[in-house]
Amino acid sequence: MRVGVIGTGHVGLITCVSLAEVGHQVAGTDSEAQKIADLQRGEAPFFEPGLQELLHQTTESGRLSFSCSAATAVADADVVFVCVGTPARASGEASLVAVEAAARDVARHATGPAVVVEKSTVPAGTSLSLKRTLRRERPDLGGRLEVVSNPEFLREGHAIEDALHPDRILIGAETDHAFGVMRRLYATFVAQGHPIIETDIQTAELAKHACNAFLALKISYANALARICERAGADVVAVADVMGSDPRIGRAFLNAGLGYGGYCFPKDIQAFQRLAGRLGYDFPLLSEIARINQEAVTAVVDKIREALWNLEDKRVALLGLSFKPGTDDIRFSPPLALARLLREEGATVVGYDPEAAANAKGELPELELAPDPYDAASGAHCAVVCTEWEEFKQLDLVRVRDALAYPILVDGRNIFEPDQVVAAGLSYHPTGRPPVEP
Ligand SMILES: NC(=O)c1ccc[n+]([C@@H]2O[C@H](COP(=O)([O-])OP(=O)(O)OC[C@H]3O[C@@H](n4cnc5c(N)ncnc54)[C@H](O)[C@@H]3O)[C@@H](O)[C@H]2O)c1
Repeated sequence: MRVGVIGTGHVGLITCVSLAEVGHQVAGTDSEAQKIADLQRGEAPFFEPGLQELLHQTTESGRLSFSCSAATAVADADVVFVCVGTPARASGEASLVAVEAAARDVARHATGPAVVVEKSTVPAGTSLSLKRTLRRERPDLGGRLEVVSNPEFLREGHAIEDALHPDRILIGAETDHAFGVMRRLYATFVAQGHPIIETDIQTAELAKHACNAFLALKISYANALARICERAGADVVAVADVMGSDPRIGRAFLNAGLGYGGYCFPKDIQAFQRLAGRLGYDFPLLSEIARINQEAVTAVVDKIREALWNLEDKRVALLGLSFKPGTDDIRFSPPLALARLLREEGATVVGYDPEAAANAKGELPELELAPDPYDAASGAHCAVVCTEWEEFKQLDLVRVRDALAYPILVDGRNIFEPDQVVAAGLSYHPTGRPPVEP
C-alpha cells in the first residue's frame, strides 16, 4: 500500500521504517527541514537501537523516502499517518495545533479517498474535530477522507522491536471500509501472530491515555512505597517482588527510583486529567501520580544532602542523563530535573551518558560533561545512578570509589545489590532500601 507519514519524530520515523520493512511504499514528511535533510542523507536524527540499520535498509530498498513537501507524502496515499507532536499547553491540555495543521495538509494535498490515521496521542473526541476539518476543507471528497485512531504503544529504547512485534495493534474506526484498509496495512503483523483489537474511535483514543496513566500509576505507587519503606526500614525491591509474584498485579513498572519522564507520561497524564475535567469528572488520582513522581526527584536530593551535608561547593556526578536507557531523549528527564535542583542548592553537577550527553548539554548548558563514568566520578563528592543503562551495571565499583572524593554512591534506580557496593568500599544509598555502610 502507499503510506504517507506526517511528522518523522520518535513515533513517525519508526512508523515509516516498520511499514516499509513489511513491504509498503512509504513517504515521510516533517516541518523541520533539518530533520528531512538528515533523513535524506540516510541519518537517523535521534538514537534508537537498530533504527539506523533499518533506515538504511528500507531507503536502499526504494520503499522509503522523505520530503519536506507534505504534498509528496499525501498525494496518492491510501493511508496517511499523523505522527506530529501533541505537547502540553500551560493549562495541561494537549495542544492539537500540529494535528490540525497536519489535517489541513492532508485535505489540501489528497488526490482521492484515503484513511487518515491519528497515531499521535490525542484526547478522546479529537477524531470529531479532525473529521470536521477534513470535510470542511475537502467537501468534494464527500467524507471519503476517513479518520481512524491507531494509538502507538512503542517504548523508546525498544521502539523497533515494539513496532515490528507489537503486543497489540489497536484500531478505532467507524466503517467496515476503514477497518478493512487497516487490516490490509497490518496483514503481515497479524500473520505473524500479533493481534488487532478493533473498537470505536473514542474508545481507542481513550485506551491510550488509560494505558499510559496506569503505567505511570504503577511507577508512582512503587515510589510512594519507597518513601514508606525508607521510614520503616523495609526493602521496596522485595516488596515489589512479593507484589509482582501475584499475576493479578505483575512485576513490571513497579520499580522505585527517580520516576518517569519522557515525552509521554508527564504530558499525557495532564492531558487525561484535563479531558476528564472537561467531561465533568474529577480525577485527582492523576495529579497524585504526578506529585509522587516529582517527589521521587526531591527524595534523591534529600538523600544526597543527608550524605553530604551542605550542597554548596560540592560536586555531584550523575550517571545517566536520558529519561530512560536505550535513548538519547532528554525530554522531561528526571536526571535533568535532579541536576537543576542540585545546582539551585549550590552544587556543581557533572554528568555522563552514553547517548544523551549532547542533548542534555543543549537543555542545561551549565551541566559539565564527562567522557566516561569514572571521569564523572573523579573528584566528585558522590555519584548518583540516574538512568539504568546496562553499562552502569558492569561498572568497576572499586575504580569508582577510588575516583570519588567521598566514597558515596546514591542509586536512583536500584541497579546494584547492596553487598556488591559495600564490598567495593562505598557507602550505598539505594531507593526505598536501607542504606549500607562498608
Ligand atoms: N515518543 C514516544 O515514545 C511516543 C510513544 C507513543 C505515542 N507518542 C505520541 O506520538 C506523538 C509524537 O511523539 P514523538 O515522540 O514522535 O514526537 P517528536 O517531537 O519526536 O516528533 C514529532 C514530529 O512532528 C513534526 N511536526 C510537528 N508539526 C508538524 C507539522 N505540522 N507537519 C509536519 N511535521 C510536524 C516535528 O517536527 C517532529 O519531528 C505525540 O502525540 C506523542 O505523545 C509518543
